[in-house]
Amino acid sequence: MSELSFRERISKYLNVGHEILYLTRSECESLHISRELIREQMEVALSQYSLRQTQMPAKSHVFPDAQSVFIGMPALLPSEQSVGFKWVSAYNNNQKQFGLPSLSAMILASDYECGWPIAFMDGVHIMETRTPAVAMVCAKYLANLNAETFGMIGLGREGRNHLPVICDTFKNLKKIYVYDVFESAMDKAIADFQSQVPVPMEKASSLEQIVKDSQVLASATFFSTDPKPTIKDEWVPKGQTIIVTDLHSQFHPDTINRADLYVVDSMEQQKGLVEEGYFYGTIPEPNCEIGHIIAGQHQGRTSEDQLIVANPSGMAVDDFAVTGLFIKTALERGVGTILPL
Ligand SMILES: NC(=O)c1ccc[n+]([C@@H]2O[C@H](COP(=O)([O-])OP(=O)(O)OC[C@H]3O[C@@H](n4cnc5c(N)ncnc54)[C@H](O)[C@@H]3O)[C@@H](O)[C@H]2O)c1
Repeated sequence: MSELSFRERISKYLNVGHEILYLTRSECESLHISRELIREQMEVALSQYSLRQTQMPAKSHVFPDAQSVFIGMPALLPSEQSVGFKWVSAYNNNQKQFGLPSLSAMILASDYECGWPIAFMDGVHIMETRTPAVAMVCAKYLANLNAETFGMIGLGREGRNHLPVICDTFKNLKKIYVYDVFESAMDKAIADFQSQVPVPMEKASSLEQIVKDSQVLASATFFSTDPKPTIKDEWVPKGQTIIVTDLHSQFHPDTINRADLYVVDSMEQQKGLVEEGYFYGTIPEPNCEIGHIIAGQHQGRTSEDQLIVANPSGMAVDDFAVTGLFIKTALERGVGTILPL
Protein backbone atom coordinates (compact mmCIF):
# COMPACT_ATOMS: atom_id res chain seq x y z
CA MET A 1 0.00 0.00 0.00
CA SER A 2 1.44 3.42 -0.89
CA GLU A 3 2.35 5.81 1.92
CA LEU A 4 0.03 8.77 2.48
CA SER A 5 1.28 12.16 1.26
CA PHE A 6 1.65 15.00 3.77
CA ARG A 7 -1.46 16.59 2.28
CA GLU A 8 -3.46 13.39 2.78
CA ARG A 9 -2.28 13.12 6.38
CA ILE A 10 -3.37 16.64 7.31
CA SER A 11 -6.55 16.68 5.19
CA LYS A 12 -8.38 14.81 7.94
CA TYR A 13 -8.03 17.91 10.12
CA LEU A 14 -7.68 20.83 7.67
CA ASN A 15 -9.69 21.63 4.54
CA VAL A 16 -6.65 22.42 2.37
CA GLY A 17 -7.30 25.30 -0.04
CA HIS A 18 -10.04 26.71 2.20
CA GLU A 19 -8.55 26.79 5.70
CA ILE A 20 -5.25 27.68 7.36
CA LEU A 21 -3.82 26.70 10.76
CA TYR A 22 -2.63 29.58 12.96
CA LEU A 23 -0.07 28.55 15.61
CA THR A 24 1.26 30.88 18.31
CA ARG A 25 4.68 30.51 19.92
CA SER A 26 3.31 28.99 23.12
CA GLU A 27 1.29 26.52 21.07
CA CYS A 28 4.45 25.50 19.18
CA GLU A 29 6.29 25.12 22.52
CA SER A 30 3.44 23.08 23.99
CA LEU A 31 3.98 20.37 21.36
CA HIS A 32 7.33 19.39 22.96
CA ILE A 33 8.75 18.02 19.73
CA SER A 34 11.75 15.90 20.78
CA ARG A 35 15.14 17.56 20.45
CA GLU A 36 16.61 14.28 19.18
CA LEU A 37 14.12 14.29 16.30
CA ILE A 38 14.93 17.92 15.52
CA ARG A 39 18.69 17.17 15.56
CA GLU A 40 18.19 14.20 13.22
CA GLN A 41 16.12 16.34 10.85
CA MET A 42 18.87 18.99 10.85
CA GLU A 43 21.45 16.43 9.83
CA VAL A 44 19.20 15.36 6.94
CA ALA A 45 18.45 18.96 5.87
CA LEU A 46 22.09 20.08 5.97
CA SER A 47 23.29 17.17 3.88
CA GLN A 48 20.37 17.36 1.42
CA TYR A 49 21.10 21.07 0.95
CA SER A 50 24.75 20.37 0.12
CA LEU A 51 23.77 17.52 -2.20
CA ARG A 52 21.47 19.95 -4.05
CA GLN A 53 18.38 17.95 -3.13
CA THR A 54 16.55 21.03 -1.82
CA GLN A 55 15.78 24.43 -3.23
CA MET A 56 16.78 27.45 -1.22
CA PRO A 57 17.81 30.75 -2.75
CA ALA A 58 20.21 32.73 -0.52
CA LYS A 59 18.52 34.94 2.08
CA SER A 60 17.25 38.36 0.94
CA HIS A 61 18.02 41.25 3.27
CA VAL A 62 16.56 44.75 3.60
CA PHE A 63 18.09 47.16 6.13
CA PRO A 64 16.29 49.96 8.02
CA ASP A 65 19.78 50.81 9.47
CA ALA A 66 23.13 49.16 10.42
CA GLN A 67 21.63 47.63 13.59
CA SER A 68 18.44 46.29 12.02
CA VAL A 69 17.57 43.91 9.23
CA PHE A 70 14.63 42.04 7.70
CA ILE A 71 15.41 38.65 6.19
CA GLY A 72 13.27 36.77 3.64
CA MET A 73 13.85 32.99 3.59
CA PRO A 74 12.01 30.63 1.19
CA ALA A 75 12.75 26.89 0.98
CA LEU A 76 11.48 23.68 -0.61
CA LEU A 77 12.34 20.16 0.61
CA PRO A 78 10.89 17.45 -1.66
CA SER A 79 11.72 14.64 0.79
CA GLU A 80 9.55 16.30 3.46
CA GLN A 81 6.96 17.64 1.00
CA SER A 82 7.64 20.93 2.74
CA VAL A 83 7.65 24.39 1.19
CA GLY A 84 7.25 27.88 2.58
CA PHE A 85 8.64 31.27 3.48
CA LYS A 86 10.07 32.60 6.74
CA TRP A 87 10.10 36.35 7.46
CA VAL A 88 12.59 37.37 10.16
CA SER A 89 13.48 40.72 11.74
CA ALA A 90 16.62 41.31 13.84
CA TYR A 91 16.67 44.67 15.65
CA ASN A 92 19.77 44.82 17.89
CA ASN A 93 18.48 47.76 20.00
CA ASN A 94 15.05 46.30 20.75
CA GLN A 95 15.80 45.36 24.35
CA LYS A 96 16.99 48.87 25.24
CA GLN A 97 14.37 50.75 23.23
CA PHE A 98 11.23 48.63 23.53
CA GLY A 99 11.96 45.88 26.05
CA LEU A 100 11.52 43.37 23.23
CA PRO A 101 13.78 40.52 22.04
CA SER A 102 15.90 41.36 19.01
CA LEU A 103 14.48 38.62 16.81
CA SER A 104 10.99 38.01 15.46
CA ALA A 105 10.04 35.34 12.92
CA MET A 106 6.85 34.11 11.28
CA ILE A 107 6.50 31.12 8.96
CA LEU A 108 4.06 30.75 6.09
CA ALA A 109 3.88 27.06 5.08
CA SER A 110 2.18 25.94 1.89
CA ASP A 111 0.82 22.62 0.67
CA TYR A 112 3.43 20.92 -1.51
CA GLU A 113 0.86 19.48 -3.89
CA CYS A 114 -1.59 22.35 -4.56
CA GLY A 115 0.44 25.36 -3.37
CA TRP A 116 -2.23 26.81 -1.08
CA PRO A 117 -1.19 28.09 2.36
CA ILE A 118 -1.73 25.57 5.15
CA ALA A 119 -0.21 27.31 8.20
CA PHE A 120 0.80 30.75 9.42
CA MET A 121 2.81 30.20 12.53
CA ASP A 122 5.42 31.44 14.96
CA GLY A 123 8.94 30.90 13.62
CA VAL A 124 10.88 31.78 16.78
CA HIS A 125 10.37 28.51 18.62
CA ILE A 126 11.41 26.46 15.59
CA MET A 127 14.43 28.75 15.18
CA GLU A 128 15.47 28.50 18.82
CA THR A 129 15.29 24.70 18.75
CA ARG A 130 16.76 24.06 15.31
CA THR A 131 19.70 26.52 15.73
CA PRO A 132 21.25 24.73 18.75
CA ALA A 133 20.48 21.43 16.97
CA VAL A 134 22.49 22.63 13.94
CA ALA A 135 25.29 23.68 16.32
CA MET A 136 25.31 20.17 17.82
CA VAL A 137 25.41 18.57 14.36
CA CYS A 138 28.45 20.77 13.65
CA ALA A 139 29.92 19.66 16.99
CA LYS A 140 29.36 15.99 16.16
CA TYR A 141 31.41 16.25 12.95
CA LEU A 142 33.97 18.90 13.94
CA ALA A 143 34.71 18.77 17.66
CA ASN A 144 36.81 16.49 19.83
CA LEU A 145 33.88 14.52 21.24
CA ASN A 146 35.81 13.72 24.41
CA ALA A 147 35.94 17.46 25.23
CA GLU A 148 35.63 18.24 28.94
CA THR A 149 34.83 21.95 28.75
CA PHE A 150 32.19 23.87 26.81
CA GLY A 151 31.81 27.65 26.80
CA MET A 152 28.65 29.53 25.79
CA ILE A 153 29.02 33.24 25.01
CA GLY A 154 25.76 35.20 24.77
CA LEU A 155 22.83 33.98 26.82
CA GLY A 156 19.82 35.31 24.99
CA ARG A 157 17.14 33.14 23.45
CA GLU A 158 19.54 31.22 21.19
CA GLY A 159 22.47 30.83 23.58
CA ARG A 160 20.27 29.66 26.45
CA ASN A 161 18.75 26.99 24.22
CA HIS A 162 22.18 25.52 23.55
CA LEU A 163 22.56 24.69 27.25
CA PRO A 164 20.19 21.71 27.60
CA VAL A 165 21.47 20.02 24.40
CA ILE A 166 25.24 20.24 24.93
CA CYS A 167 25.49 17.08 27.04
CA ASP A 168 23.55 15.07 24.42
CA THR A 169 26.68 15.39 22.27
CA PHE A 170 29.53 15.65 24.78
CA LYS A 171 29.37 12.69 27.15
CA ASN A 172 32.69 13.41 28.96
CA LEU A 173 31.94 17.01 29.76
CA LYS A 174 33.12 18.21 33.17
CA LYS A 175 32.12 21.86 33.03
CA ILE A 176 29.96 24.34 31.11
CA TYR A 177 31.15 27.95 31.30
CA VAL A 178 28.72 30.75 30.49
CA TYR A 179 29.45 34.38 29.66
CA ASP A 180 27.28 37.37 28.80
CA VAL A 181 27.83 41.12 29.02
CA PHE A 182 24.93 41.10 31.50
CA GLU A 183 25.71 39.41 34.82
CA SER A 184 21.96 38.83 35.30
CA ALA A 185 21.80 36.78 32.07
CA MET A 186 24.52 34.44 33.41
CA ASP A 187 22.79 34.08 36.78
CA LYS A 188 19.46 33.36 35.11
CA ALA A 189 20.95 30.79 32.72
CA ILE A 190 22.51 28.89 35.62
CA ALA A 191 19.34 29.12 37.71
CA ASP A 192 17.18 27.92 34.82
CA PHE A 193 19.39 25.18 33.35
CA GLN A 194 21.69 23.77 36.04
CA SER A 195 19.05 21.21 37.03
CA GLN A 196 18.80 20.03 33.39
CA VAL A 197 22.50 19.28 32.84
CA PRO A 198 24.60 16.66 34.66
CA VAL A 199 27.74 18.83 34.95
CA PRO A 200 28.45 22.04 36.87
CA MET A 201 27.73 25.32 35.11
CA GLU A 202 29.99 28.21 36.04
CA LYS A 203 30.02 31.92 35.28
CA ALA A 204 33.24 32.75 33.44
CA SER A 205 35.27 35.42 35.19
CA SER A 206 35.92 37.20 31.89
CA LEU A 207 35.60 36.83 28.15
CA GLU A 208 39.30 35.98 28.06
CA GLN A 209 38.85 33.17 30.58
CA ILE A 210 35.93 31.50 28.78
CA VAL A 211 37.80 31.63 25.48
CA LYS A 212 41.02 30.22 26.95
CA ASP A 213 39.39 27.51 29.06
CA SER A 214 36.75 26.06 26.69
CA GLN A 215 37.67 23.21 24.35
CA VAL A 216 34.42 23.82 22.53
CA LEU A 217 33.17 27.39 22.35
CA ALA A 218 29.81 28.58 21.04
CA SER A 219 28.76 32.15 20.50
CA ALA A 220 25.26 33.61 20.08
CA THR A 221 25.62 37.36 20.66
CA PHE A 222 24.51 39.55 17.74
CA PHE A 223 25.61 40.42 14.26
CA SER A 224 25.63 43.69 12.39
CA THR A 225 27.09 45.25 9.28
CA ASP A 226 29.39 47.18 11.65
CA PRO A 227 30.96 44.34 13.71
CA LYS A 228 33.53 45.14 16.41
CA PRO A 229 35.34 41.94 17.50
CA THR A 230 35.98 41.59 21.23
CA ILE A 231 37.89 38.26 21.31
CA LYS A 232 41.65 38.57 20.85
CA ASP A 233 43.21 36.01 18.56
CA GLU A 234 45.93 35.17 21.09
CA TRP A 235 43.28 33.93 23.55
CA VAL A 236 42.07 31.21 21.14
CA PRO A 237 43.86 27.89 21.83
CA LYS A 238 44.85 25.16 19.37
CA GLY A 239 42.37 22.31 19.10
CA GLN A 240 39.40 24.51 19.92
CA THR A 241 36.14 24.07 18.07
CA ILE A 242 34.29 27.35 17.65
CA ILE A 243 30.64 27.14 16.63
CA VAL A 244 28.87 30.45 16.12
CA THR A 245 25.32 31.45 15.33
CA ASP A 246 26.24 35.16 15.19
CA LEU A 247 28.51 35.23 12.11
CA HIS A 248 31.57 35.16 14.44
CA SER A 249 31.02 38.87 15.09
CA GLN A 250 33.08 38.69 18.31
CA PHE A 251 36.11 36.97 16.71
CA HIS A 252 39.05 38.73 15.12
CA PRO A 253 39.58 37.77 11.45
CA ASP A 254 43.09 36.50 12.37
CA THR A 255 41.39 33.60 14.19
CA ILE A 256 39.24 32.74 11.20
CA ASN A 257 42.24 33.03 8.88
CA ARG A 258 44.41 30.68 10.92
CA ALA A 259 41.67 28.08 11.41
CA ASP A 260 42.61 24.67 9.98
CA LEU A 261 39.03 24.25 8.81
CA TYR A 262 36.43 26.97 8.26
CA VAL A 263 33.00 25.49 7.65
CA VAL A 264 29.69 27.14 6.77
CA ASP A 265 26.20 25.77 6.13
CA SER A 266 25.81 27.45 2.73
CA MET A 267 28.64 28.72 0.53
CA GLU A 268 26.14 30.78 -1.45
CA GLN A 269 24.68 32.40 1.63
CA GLN A 270 28.17 33.08 2.98
CA LYS A 271 29.10 34.89 -0.25
CA GLY A 272 26.06 37.17 0.11
CA LEU A 273 26.86 37.91 3.76
CA VAL A 274 30.45 38.83 2.83
CA GLU A 275 29.17 41.18 0.11
CA GLU A 276 26.72 42.78 2.53
CA GLY A 277 29.57 43.64 4.94
CA TYR A 278 28.73 41.34 7.85
CA PHE A 279 32.34 40.31 8.48
CA TYR A 280 35.10 42.44 9.99
CA GLY A 281 38.29 42.56 7.89
CA THR A 282 39.15 39.92 5.33
CA ILE A 283 38.17 36.32 5.98
CA PRO A 284 39.01 33.19 3.96
CA GLU A 285 36.77 31.28 1.59
CA PRO A 286 35.16 28.47 3.60
CA ASN A 287 36.68 25.00 3.08
CA CYS A 288 33.26 23.40 2.69
CA GLU A 289 29.68 23.22 3.91
CA ILE A 290 28.86 21.10 6.97
CA GLY A 291 26.50 19.13 4.69
CA HIS A 292 29.51 18.07 2.56
CA ILE A 293 31.10 16.59 5.68
CA ILE A 294 27.88 14.83 6.76
CA ALA A 295 27.52 13.40 3.23
CA GLY A 296 31.13 12.15 3.28
CA GLN A 297 32.28 14.52 0.53
CA HIS A 298 34.76 16.38 2.75
CA GLN A 299 36.73 15.45 5.85
CA GLY A 300 35.80 16.89 9.24
CA ARG A 301 38.27 16.98 12.12
CA THR A 302 41.35 14.88 11.39
CA SER A 303 43.50 15.67 14.44
CA GLU A 304 42.98 16.82 18.02
CA ASP A 305 44.99 20.03 17.69
CA GLN A 306 43.15 21.48 14.70
CA LEU A 307 41.46 24.85 15.25
CA ILE A 308 38.05 24.57 13.60
CA VAL A 309 35.48 27.31 13.09
CA ALA A 310 31.89 26.53 12.09
CA ASN A 311 29.73 29.41 10.97
CA PRO A 312 26.23 28.09 10.22
CA SER A 313 24.39 31.30 9.38
CA GLY A 314 21.00 29.57 9.53
CA MET A 315 19.04 28.32 6.55
CA ALA A 316 15.39 28.15 5.61
CA VAL A 317 15.83 24.43 4.89
CA ASP A 318 16.57 23.98 8.62
CA ASP A 319 13.19 25.49 9.46
CA PHE A 320 11.21 23.71 6.77
CA ALA A 321 12.77 20.35 7.67
CA VAL A 322 10.68 20.44 10.87
CA THR A 323 7.77 22.74 10.05
CA GLY A 324 5.62 19.85 8.83
CA LEU A 325 6.28 17.98 12.06
CA PHE A 326 4.89 20.90 14.08
CA ILE A 327 1.88 21.35 11.78
CA LYS A 328 0.95 17.66 11.70
CA THR A 329 1.39 17.22 15.46
CA ALA A 330 -0.64 20.36 16.23
CA LEU A 331 -3.49 19.25 13.95
CA GLU A 332 -3.53 15.72 15.39
CA ARG A 333 -3.66 17.11 18.95
CA GLY A 334 -6.16 19.89 18.20
CA VAL A 335 -3.62 22.60 19.05
CA GLY A 336 -3.90 26.00 17.30
CA THR A 337 -6.70 27.87 15.56
CA ILE A 338 -8.11 26.94 12.19
CA LEU A 339 -9.07 30.05 10.23
CA PRO A 340 -10.87 30.43 6.89
CA LEU A 341 -8.73 31.60 3.97
N1 LIG B 1 22.65 31.16 12.69
C1 LIG B 1 21.39 30.95 12.94
O1 LIG B 1 20.78 29.99 12.47
C2 LIG B 1 20.67 31.88 13.84
C3 LIG B 1 19.34 31.66 14.20
C4 LIG B 1 18.75 32.51 15.10
C5 LIG B 1 19.45 33.58 15.62
N2 LIG B 1 20.74 33.78 15.21
C6 LIG B 1 21.56 34.87 15.74
O2 LIG B 1 22.01 34.45 17.03
C7 LIG B 1 22.32 35.63 17.81
C8 LIG B 1 21.63 35.55 19.15
O3 LIG B 1 20.23 35.61 18.96
P1 LIG B 1 19.27 35.77 20.23
O4 LIG B 1 17.89 35.69 19.72
O5 LIG B 1 19.70 34.85 21.30
O6 LIG B 1 19.59 37.27 20.65
P2 LIG B 1 19.35 37.93 22.07
O7 LIG B 1 19.39 39.39 21.81
O8 LIG B 1 18.18 37.33 22.73
O9 LIG B 1 20.64 37.50 22.92
C9 LIG B 1 21.94 37.92 22.67
C10 LIG B 1 22.71 37.84 23.99
O10 LIG B 1 24.08 38.11 23.72
C11 LIG B 1 24.58 38.99 24.74
N3 LIG B 1 25.71 39.72 24.19
C12 LIG B 1 25.70 40.72 23.30
N4 LIG B 1 26.95 41.09 23.02
C13 LIG B 1 27.77 40.30 23.73
C14 LIG B 1 29.16 40.19 23.86
N5 LIG B 1 29.98 41.00 23.18
N6 LIG B 1 29.67 39.26 24.70
C15 LIG B 1 28.83 38.46 25.41
N7 LIG B 1 27.50 38.52 25.33
C16 LIG B 1 26.98 39.42 24.49
C17 LIG B 1 23.38 39.86 25.10
O11 LIG B 1 23.53 40.44 26.38
C18 LIG B 1 22.24 38.83 25.04
O12 LIG B 1 22.07 38.20 26.28
C19 LIG B 1 21.91 36.80 16.94
O13 LIG B 1 23.02 37.25 16.23
C20 LIG B 1 20.89 36.19 15.99
O14 LIG B 1 20.74 36.94 14.84
C21 LIG B 1 21.34 32.96 14.35
